[in-house]
Amino acid sequence: MKVIEIRKPGGPDVLVPAQKPVPVPGPQEVLIKVAAAGLNRADVLQRLGGYPVPKGAPDHPGLEASGTVVALGEGVTQFSVGEPVCALLQGGGYGEYCVAPVAQTLRIPNGLDFIQAASLPESYFTVWSNVFEFGRLGAGQSFMVHGGSSGIGVAAIQLASALGHTVYATAGSDDKCRFCESLGAKRGINYKTEDFARVVLEETDRRGVDVILDMVGASYLMRNVVALAPEGRLVVIALISGSTTPVDLYQLMAKRVTITGSLLRPRDVAFKAAIKAKLEAHVWPLLDSGRLRPIVDKVFPLDEAGKAQAYMESSAHRGKIILSVS
Ligand SMILES: NC(=O)c1ccc[n+]([C@@H]2O[C@H](COP(=O)([O-])OP(=O)(O)OC[C@H]3O[C@@H](n4cnc5c(N)ncnc54)[C@H](OP(=O)(O)O)[C@@H]3O)[C@@H](O)[C@H]2O)c1
Repeated sequence: MKVIEIRKPGGPDVLVPAQKPVPVPGPQEVLIKVAAAGLNRADVLQRLGGYPVPKGAPDHPGLEASGTVVALGEGVTQFSVGEPVCALLQGGGYGEYCVAPVAQTLRIPNGLDFIQAASLPESYFTVWSNVFEFGRLGAGQSFMVHGGSSGIGVAAIQLASALGHTVYATAGSDDKCRFCESLGAKRGINYKTEDFARVVLEETDRRGVDVILDMVGASYLMRNVVALAPEGRLVVIALISGSTTPVDLYQLMAKRVTITGSLLRPRDVAFKAAIKAKLEAHVWPLLDSGRLRPIVDKVFPLDEAGKAQAYMESSAHRGKIILSVS
């Protein structure tokens, strides 16, 4: 099969077509003929040599894909050959075939095509686990996401607002802020021209928000604490600005805030199976009904994976970038 491999760590041009054997599904796995694969920032980090591949995972990139089940591993009863699916992968989405654990494979929501379906798994597994499990965003509570126009941000805004939460989102331009508002955010905050903590306090009568999903890291830490409500939770999922910074512990004590974070990819199949069950119960019905809509910014052919990643690195996109495979 054709795959896109990382020839060596470097710029987008190190992504080149290569041939690999079609993988064989193991017990409780399915073989998928890939129709489309979603791009994620982690793929860019992997290309740059900064994101080690977990043991046993394919070394060509791609954390999510959609397509048709073409073979079943031992013990698989939940899916049949010919069924359209989308899946969260350990790697290997940038190729004509991939293998996925049943526990990370979902049916395609009603009315969505393969391109749209490929945009779902990484964002919704990440948002559900971090915002609703680790962040414990509860009924009536308020929420802010940084990077509101990112693939993750778009899913977070739509899902939290569909579930009745007041949502704030930061983004790097006024246009992106209006885009976040069109998805359900009460207020988009342009982090280049506004102090997000000050805006959030003004918007919430100085109370702050209950949960923040952060991908910026070090430089935002103490301002995130300022923007949190008493007993608020900060969940860090990426470190765009770095990982170390001084912390004023008094501020944590005074507000009783919790700071946590997580990485999805290294978690085991049992963890992902538990999140899949939550997605099937709470998120897929909202996709079926059209209440949540996948936002696909641009589609590139598989051979142009380098161009697609360069486009992602430009941060010009809103929502997801997808590779069309077959
Ligand atoms: N921990 C996990 O398990 C996990 C899982 C999935 C994703 N993630 C992380 O979540 C983030 C979003 O992922 P994605 O695939 O959705 O990426 P993406 O679509 O490429 O989004 C990244 C966004 O970050 C914003 N950004 C870039 N530089 C920034 C800066 N200096 N300050 C503030 N914002 C900045 C950009 O928007 P602006 O134009 O608004 O700056 C861009 O849209 C990535 O950092 C990714 O690594 C983590």
